[in-house]
Amino acid sequence: MNPKPLRRFPENFLWGAATSAYQIEGATLADGAGPSNWYRFSHTRNRVVDNESGDIACDHYNRYLEDVSLMRELGLQSYRFSIAWGRVLPEGAGRTNQKGLDFYKRLVDALLEAGIEPMATLFHWDMPAALDDRGGWLNRDSAEWFADYAKVVFQALDGRVKRWATLNEPWVVTDGGYLFGTMAPGHSSPFETPIAAHNLLRAHGAAVSVYRALGEHEIGVVVNLEPKYPASASAEDVEATKRSDAYMNRQYLDPLFFGSYPEEMAELYGEAWPDFPATDFDLIRQRIDFLGINYYSRGIMKADPDNIVERARRVSRPHASVTSMGWEVFPQGLTDILLWVKERYGDTPLYITENGAAFYDPPKAEEGKIDDPLRIDYLRKHIRAIADAIERGVNLRGYYVWSFLDNFEWAQGFSKRFGIVHVDYETQRRTAKASARFYADVIRTNGSGISE
Ligand code: FCB
Repeated sequence: MNPKPLRRFPENFLWGAATSAYQIEGATLADGAGPSNWYRFSHTRNRVVDNESGDIACDHYNRYLEDVSLMRELGLQSYRFSIAWGRVLPEGAGRTNQKGLDFYKRLVDALLEAGIEPMATLFHWDMPAALDDRGGWLNRDSAEWFADYAKVVFQALDGRVKRWATLNEPWVVTDGGYLFGTMAPGHSSPFETPIAAHNLLRAHGAAVSVYRALGEHEIGVVVNLEPKYPASASAEDVEATKRSDAYMNRQYLDPLFFGSYPEEMAELYGEAWPDFPATDFDLIRQRIDFLGINYYSRGIMKADPDNIVERARRVSRPHASVTSMGWEVFPQGLTDILLWVKERYGDTPLYITENGAAFYDPPKAEEGKIDDPLRIDYLRKHIRAIADAIERGVNLRGYYVWSFLDNFEWAQGFSKRFGIVHVDYETQRRTAKASARFYADVIRTNGSGISE
């Protein structure tokens, strides 16, 4: 049999890698920055594996120039990073801290000088602690706080940053932060969760409104999606799968694109589901220039009445290959979810804003090398999966590997390594893994090296 022809990606397809502020920067309180809710969460015992924190992380705040040189060496065309709200506004609202803002100006300058397009996320989970004290995302004012912060950042950087994302994965913020307490701010209340979710959506909308008034480029939002498949053909599991799909995939996208929540939501939350003012949806449902999708795995769902809200739980397929997060490697799900988004929400330009895998890598790069064949295999298969989606008409404009560097993996601390670049946390030495070299080839050949 002849091998399938080599994959072709559109000429201007953008290849990049992603990180986020709290996960890599370290120097969390430097130059007048205010502490974030993640600072507090990780400084509370037994919240994070080994009680680790982002205090030092990859020390990127001090080493960003070295990091940008490495990006250039690998040929990255774009770099997705996030801005720490508390560096810019230490109390979250009010006073601007010029020194914090200057860090991002220097970073953006260095990227542009290296020929790398910045994509900036305004909120990748680190909310200023001072705002948490005022109720965080439960406070309706959070939308205005966020819009005011966004305005300061747009004014400082919009000339040079051409692609903005408002929020990263609001679902994780609410599910981990407000329902199960596994992420900052560590609450667990089904009464709070839909309110936090709704205010995140309002905050997104408020920032988009500000952007339309003064921004000149593109703005969108990043969601994590996971195609859901039933564990069996039983009516219970099929229903459970629908609930999970509503909860995780449609809860945010339906209001963003249709201006309403999926009908399942009221049933999922029961008496905890609030009435939302109808006018909020005009704010939420505004045109976005692109949608960012983070994809890691699929969910095989089984009915489970003991699990609150979803009343479903994930099960694993026997003998499935999984990453060290325990997430099944399932590239087909990436093609499926892209096709689903196109079919349900239309042709808004899409980016895969995160995709990648944690596999065990040693803490030290012996002889300056890290061989990570499993990560290469994961990336190769998922890049093929996006090529399939593009061939089937999906308007996909770019792809970002998660992550550029090994980093602080939230509640998992430093125990999970997602980087294509290895970080030795003792010396802060960076070593490009074999996967980084592989990815550099993908970029150089615009994906045509990915054959069947
Ligand atoms: C996503 C997050 C990112 C990282 C990866 C593994 O949910 O956006 O910060 O933790 O998962």
